[in-house]
Amino acid sequence: MALRLGDVAPNFQATTTEGDIDFYQWAGDSWVVLFSHPADFTPVCTTELGTVAKYRPEFAKRNVKTIAVSVDPLGSHQEWVKDINETQCTVVDYPLIADPNRTVADLYDMIHPNAIDNLTVRSVYIIGPDRKIKLMLTYPASTGRNFDEILRVIDSLQLTAKYSVATPANWTQGQDVIVSLAVKTEDIPAKFPKGHQIIKPYLRTTPQPDKN
Ligand code: BEZ
Repeated sequence: MALRLGDVAPNFQATTTEGDIDFYQWAGDSWVVLFSHPADFTPVCTTELGTVAKYRPEFAKRNVKTIAVSVDPLGSHQEWVKDINETQCTVVDYPLIADPNRTVADLYDMIHPNAIDNLTVRSVYIIGPDRKIKLMLTYPASTGRNFDEILRVIDSLQLTAKYSVATPANWTQGQDVIVSLAVKTEDIPAKFPKGHQIIKPYLRTTPQPDKN
């Protein structure tokens, strides 16, 4: 059955450009971005994997590990990484899973034959330290992903895991957030001492609780 939000992310063993891994052991207590790309030596994928390499400090700040996967073999990944480093002016230092037998691709439902035959689409799974799937995205081969959006979602996921809040449309760090419907209006001042606004009984906002 297809994976859904809140499901436990399946474990797997894999060969990667950083050596053989057991996914759970590799993930440790970090958040994980597991993302697939259709194929090595293709233009959009080259820019995507380079972008993730450049964003590694931003992922690390958030305790996030990144790991890529496609059905190409290890030797192909190793050769292609040289091109990514050269053309994107970066160093890819996170693992690329070689998945020619489609173990990971099938486990995570990354092959959508009506979109691209036999290749993984651009799937993104954000997995929490509790191993549960927090977000799933699927893009077609022709559209490179926006990794600023991935970071933005991680910020929201981490904030909303810690406080009884939700983040509104287009929210970014530092902007007001929505008080969860589970919090009674009379309890807001104690829980959110920075103040709040009642726009509608169901729409109450407060400054981001963990920002000065
Ligand atoms: C690309 O990364 O540019 C790409 C990959 C597979 C099919 C089409 C484009």
